[in-house]
Amino acid sequence: MSFDLFKFAKPVLHKLDAEQAHRLTLLSLKVGLYPRQAEGDDARLGQTIWGLSFPNPLGIAAGFDKDATVVNSLSNMGLGFVEVGTVTPRPQPGNPKPRIFRLELDRAVINRLGFNSSGHQAVFDHLKAQKIPIVLGVNVGANKDSTNRAEDYVEGLQKFIEFADYFTINVSSPNTPGLRDLQKPKELTALLSWLIAARGGLMEAGHKWCPLLVKLAPDMDLGELEQTVECLLEHDIDGIIISNTTISREGLSDPVLAGESGGLSGRPLFQKSTEMLARVYLMTKGKIPLIGVGGIESGETALAKIEAGASLLQLYTGLIYSGPKLVESIKKRLLEEVEREKLRDLRPLIGSKAEHWAANAPTLV
Ligand SMILES: Cc1cc2nc3c(=O)[nH]c(=O)nc-3n(C[C@H](O)[C@H](O)[C@H](O)COP(=O)(O)O)c2cc1C
Repeated sequence: MSFDLFKFAKPVLHKLDAEQAHRLTLLSLKVGLYPRQAEGDDARLGQTIWGLSFPNPLGIAAGFDKDATVVNSLSNMGLGFVEVGTVTPRPQPGNPKPRIFRLELDRAVINRLGFNSSGHQAVFDHLKAQKIPIVLGVNVGANKDSTNRAEDYVEGLQKFIEFADYFTINVSSPNTPGLRDLQKPKELTALLSWLIAARGGLMEAGHKWCPLLVKLAPDMDLGELEQTVECLLEHDIDGIIISNTTISREGLSDPVLAGESGGLSGRPLFQKSTEMLARVYLMTKGKIPLIGVGGIESGETALAKIEAGASLLQLYTGLIYSGPKLVESIKKRLLEEVEREKLRDLRPLIGSKAEHWAANAPTLV
C-alpha cells in the first residue's frame, strides 16, 4: 500500500470488522500493495545485538503476522526486524468471533484472539517458501488444551531453530487461561530450565546458538515484577520484551467497548508499559537488551521508549491508526535526535531517562 493509499484505504478498513480489516491488510502485503523503503537506513540507526545486525531498531510486534505469511513484504517496508507468531504446536482456532475491537477514540485495540494459529507445520512451510532478508524472531506459545505447556515451547524451539534469529517465549498473553502464571518464579524457573536445556541439546546437534527472550505482561505489581526479573537474571535470559497487552481498562473513553474482555493495546498502554520498561532497565542495570513495545505511535513515543531503556522497539496498534508511513516518521525522528545530540548511534540514548520514567514520568501522549 503506498503512503497515500493508506489515507484512502483507512476509512474503508476501519468500517470493516477489525479482524477482516487485518486480513485485507495481510492480503495487500502479500500482493505487493505496500510502500517499499527506497534507500537503506542511515548507519547511525543500526545496532548489533546478540550478534545480529539490526539496520534500525523498529520491528513488527507479534500478532501482526501470526502465521508468517508476509515476512518478505514486511522486510521491504523499512522495518529493522520482524517477529512472527505466536505460533502453537497444533493448529487451533482461537476464541469465537468477534474478538478484535478498535477503540477509535482511544487509539487502542482490545483483542481476545486466544492464540489462533495455523500451527507449527504450516508456519514452518510459510517460512520455507519465503526469502527472509531480515532479522526474524519466532514467538512461541502453548496450545490451549496442552497437558504439558513447557513441552509445547520446547517443540517450538526445535521446529524453528533453522529460521529463527531469536525466540520469544510468550508467557504473557491474557487470552489463554493460566498462561500468565508461567511468569511466577517457580513456574518460570521450571520452564526456563527446560528451554535452556533444549537449546543446549540443539547446539550439541550442530545448530547455532539462538537468543531466548521472554515477553512479559504489564499487569504485575512491583514485587511480582522484581521476582520475575530476578528469575530471568538467574537464568541468564538474553532479552526481555516489555510488554504484552494489558487487562487494565484505566482511562478509556469508550465505556461500551471498554467492557470487552481481552488485552488492551495502543495509546492507553503507552504510559504503563514505558514505566515498566524503565523499571526493568534499572533492575537489570542495563545489562540485558530490552525490546520496548506498547503504544508507540509517533517519533516521540518511540524515542521515549529508548530513553526509558529499550534497545529495540516493536509496534502493532500504531500501524492500525497511522498506517505504514509511521515506520518512516519514527526513524526520521530518531535520526534527528542522534543529529541534535551529535551522537554516533542510538546507544547513548538507551536508558538515559530510565530513572525519570521509573518514577512515574508525566504522560507523554
Ligand atoms: C490483534 C493483536 C494480536 C496480538 N497477538 C499477539 C500474539 O500472538 N503474541 C504476542 O506475544 N503478542 C500479541 N499481541 C501483542 C503485541 O505484540 C504487543 O505486545 C501489544 O499490542 C502492544 O503493542 P502496541 O500497543 O504497539 O500494539 C497482539 C496484539 C494485537 C493488537
